Amino acid sequence: MNITRKTGLKGEITVPGDKSISHRAVMFGALSKGTTEVTNFLQGADCLSTIDCFRKLGIDIENTKKHILIHGKGLHGLKESKIQLDTGNSGTTTRLISGILAGQNFRTTLTGDASICRRPMGRIITPLSEMGADIKSINGNGCAPLEIHPSTLHGIHYNSPVASAQVKSAILLAGLYAEGITKVTEPYLSRNHSEIMLNFFGANVTTKDTTISIEPEPVLEGRKVVVPGDISSAAYFIAAGLITPDSEILIKNVGSNPTRDGILKVCKAMGGNIEVLNRNDTNGEPTADLLVKSSKLHGTTIEGAMIPTLIDEIPIIAILACFAEGTTVIKDAAELKVKESNRIDVMVNNLSLMKADITGTEDGMIIHGGKPLEGATIESNLDHRIAMSFAIAGMNANGTTTIINSDCVNISYPAFYEDLQKLYS
Ligand code: S3P
Repeated sequence: MNITRKTGLKGEITVPGDKSISHRAVMFGALSKGTTEVTNFLQGADCLSTIDCFRKLGIDIENTKKHILIHGKGLHGLKESKIQLDTGNSGTTTRLISGILAGQNFRTTLTGDASICRRPMGRIITPLSEMGADIKSINGNGCAPLEIHPSTLHGIHYNSPVASAQVKSAILLAGLYAEGITKVTEPYLSRNHSEIMLNFFGANVTTKDTTISIEPEPVLEGRKVVVPGDISSAAYFIAAGLITPDSEILIKNVGSNPTRDGILKVCKAMGGNIEVLNRNDTNGEPTADLLVKSSKLHGTTIEGAMIPTLIDEIPIIAILACFAEGTTVIKDAAELKVKESNRIDVMVNNLSLMKADITGTEDGMIIHGGKPLEGATIESNLDHRIAMSFAIAGMNANGTTTIINSDCVNISYPAFYEDLQKLYS
């Protein structure tokens, strides 16, 4: 994919459904009695991996253009899969389904692509094992493939060393099958979509500060789920609108859950002109329209409790920082190293190729902005968020930017390049 400079991005855009919420709708629908209807489901490769896994576990799922219908079989209705589950590139599928599978009376093995098989699974193996689960890394390296055998689970209170919704959710989902209450305390609150949606389906999940508790054996009932637009996908258009001269973009129906909206707070702190309009709510998930206009940005510091609320947006924030006067410091974000790629290294290497002033640190990066970017050949490392971030950088750089393996955007936003093009054609 070749990208050249653009100006004057104008128009209205609706981004696809939220990835985290789409995964959970399929999973919780499968564990509910009756049919769950999901509209605005994200038809990206990651969420299709979740559908594929639950079909293999005996759940009938209809996927049409209009909606997804999940014919749930209740908490104890899953069946053994004769073949290995394949979670593809999806960390959310791998970790959440492991929590569910730990509570089943049958054996499962699961694996994913090369990236998934490098990502740490010890972070779920440890707490699930403490709950009594029989789960192991087949190659003994703390990564997938994983093998999970039947066992009896009991509730624990887990003090998680990381603020990770995937870890928290895996434990809460195992807690559905455990004896007694299961609790997770996080260092900072991570995205709370599991808590909101489990309660919507009939579970009893409570949150006090950063401690989340779940009661076992609820009767979950099929629901109608309307998925809001993904703020992580909207982030590329927010950034494009702010840094591309003479731009004005209206992004409709974006999920604005406070555990996810750090990108909006950071853009405002950098001087970005973003109006939040038409605040609404779908199934307990806040939504809004975002009106973004070209802005003169300045550097900022991003750290601490803010990090989990924008963890997936850090690559595009790094691009924004290149267009901001002064210094942007990103710290407390070591989690970036264990995402679909090592996003500290990949951002530093690629932005250095574009002649940005960027230095990687142990837990983030430091960017001195205001230096023009030069077009370069960028390796996406098969990481969808890297490809999309550099498309926006390339539209604001001199010369041509070439993104290698650009079609990895299929993971979370199959029509990304087409939607972007609508704003300048
Ligand atoms: C997700 C949680 C985050 C995020 C990922 C989706 C989820 O990961 O990076 O893209 O749906 O729970 P961690 O929980 O590992 O931080």
